[in-house]
Amino acid sequence: PLVSMRELLDHAADNGYGIPAFNVNNLEQVQAVMSAADEVGAPVILQASAGARKYAGESFIKHLIAAAAEAYPHIPLVMHQDHGTSPAICQGALELGFGSVMMDGSLREDGKTPSDFDYNVRVTQEVVAMAHRIGATVEGELGCLGSLETGEAGEEDGVGAVGKLSHDQLLTDPEEAAQFVRATQLDALAIAIGTSHGAYKFSRPPTGDVLSIQRVKEIHARIPNTHLVMHGSSSVPQELLALINQYGGKMKETYGVPVAEIQEAIKHGVRKINIDTDIRLAMTGAVRKFQAENPDKFDMREWMKPAREAAKAICRQRYLEFGCEGQA
Ligand code: G3H
Ligand code: 13P
Ligand code: NA
Ligand code: ZN
Repeated sequence: PLVSMRELLDHAADNGYGIPAFNVNNLEQVQAVMSAADEVGAPVILQASAGARKYAGESFIKHLIAAAAEAYPHIPLVMHQDHGTSPAICQGALELGFGSVMMDGSLREDGKTPSDFDYNVRVTQEVVAMAHRIGATVEGELGCLGSLETGEAGEEDGVGAVGKLSHDQLLTDPEEAAQFVRATQLDALAIAIGTSHGAYKFSRPPTGDVLSIQRVKEIHARIPNTHLVMHGSSSVPQELLALINQYGGKMKETYGVPVAEIQEAIKHGVRKINIDTDIRLAMTGAVRKFQAENPDKFDMREWMKPAREAAKAICRQRYLEFGCEGQA
């Protein structure tokens, strides 16, 4: 059934595991996540970005998730809005039936310009007030996702800030985090620790200076009762990059967030781990391989099937790695 995000995160905290929150845009991705969760007995967070709602359409997103709940009535499932850029957008999602919303007030309403602390508190407070009235959960964000290697916010066409960010913006301050939680009373806090959205996170396997699990520990020590959220947490498996490139792709050398680092973060308060890119890579690799090996085929179902299987495999792996097995 559709359940409250708060309930899922509380359970994860009580039992010391983390829940991957997978971004979904279409039928096959929803099916992949659900069938992986079903196999291992994991609780599910399906999240839709603004881009997903634009791609599929709001009704389709809503009803795809409703269909998932109907097809898997025994799996606790949350429908979460990823990166809302204003209270109005969060209100729209709540009206559409989302049980959980992210108010990303770390950025102004354009979703690109870093905001200031007071703005972030104000918009997050506003969303907490409207969401908690109807029993919905709120994720906020303090700090900006971006690279500690380059100071760059990320890809221009991606989600998140654009341009250069300071070291202070790229690492959430524990004391500010405590103030932020106290002022907003949100349910979950996304933090900046050096991760960024998309495939190009690190130019080499990340070390502590560019991916600060140490900062997770410091934040958790300061606000032990707040559920922490890691964005930009795809691991960018090297074998998926190799597969894509083997079949005509042109991905450049890049590294993601190692699963072992996420597992360490889960020991220190991280309960929701956002993953989109790994599913994209898995599906792209599978489609490229199938198309290259079967140039005569044109039934969409034939190439969507291996793509869906590849997405399912990565979801299943993350559920197991983050400790979700049997927790549903
Ligand atoms: O927040 C970032 C997710 O990867 C969503 O990306 O805006 O392309 O759907 P998207
Ligand atoms: P990735 O691009 O690392 O998968 O991150 C997704 C994310 O943070 C969605 O909010
Ligand atoms: Na942000
Ligand atoms: Zn994100």
